[in-house]
Amino acid sequence: MKKFLIVANWKLNGNITMISSFFEYLKLYFSNYVKKNTIVICPPNVYLERVRQIISNINNIFLGSQNVDLNLKGAFTGETSILMLKDIGVKYIIIGHSERRLFHYETNDLIAKKFNLIKELNLIPILCIGETAEEKKNGQTKKVIEKQLDSIFKNSGQLAFRNTVIAYEPIWAIGTGLSAHPKDVQLIHIFIKEYIKKHDPINIKDIIVQYGGSINQYNSKDFLKQPDIDGLLIGNASLDAKQFFNIINISENMIFS
Ligand code: 13P
Repeated sequence: MKKFLIVANWKLNGNITMISSFFEYLKLYFSNYVKKNTIVICPPNVYLERVRQIISNINNIFLGSQNVDLNLKGAFTGETSILMLKDIGVKYIIIGHSERRLFHYETNDLIAKKFNLIKELNLIPILCIGETAEEKKNGQTKKVIEKQLDSIFKNSGQLAFRNTVIAYEPIWAIGTGLSAHPKDVQLIHIFIKEYIKKHDPINIKDIIVQYGGSINQYNSKDFLKQPDIDGLLIGNASLDAKQFFNIINISENMIFS
């Protein structure tokens, strides 16, 4: 039976009051409804411990971080290490988000090093990949994705994508209200899976590729209906407990129907 991975990326949003009301709402329904799918909440790092305490006795919900440094400890002012995240119970780490690539100049090479280290330390990287509007217009989507995946293969070897998550997030669809077309996303996901399969004899069902970009409670079902969309990485809509829960609920009902 297919399971979905639904991840909330809160980005630079939220505060103590919001977190309390968000989980008050979610907890009302969560245990009764969420049976199969895996839910991950990625708050800003400063709130990770608070969220950990709240979710510690709820099944199927895990803690994720939005970023991590490449160094494990030492004189790196302002950074957070994988060991620290692991220490407080983080299981998933988003890396390579386009906002990190754009605003923090993260390169494919740096991201590949982070990916490798996260795996070595037994956490699960969620690798974001995707093209800009310009690249899409120029028909370069597949080339961009190949390059992003190649840097991972180069650093982590042919079996790199085992026990990891890929999030296909076309940059033009992030925060714009302009989601990609589910059928186009399905084709890109097949492309990603087949590209990985060229390197690794992995069962295609074991490659997890999520979609992210302007997902909301109204369009989520159309994406999850596609056979190779294995979950969602949600920004804005994940800040609203009601909407986020509706999306989770839709995903659960699809599994059982
Ligand atoms: P939105 O859902 O706000 O478009 O953000 C998507 C995203 O960047 C998730 O990582």
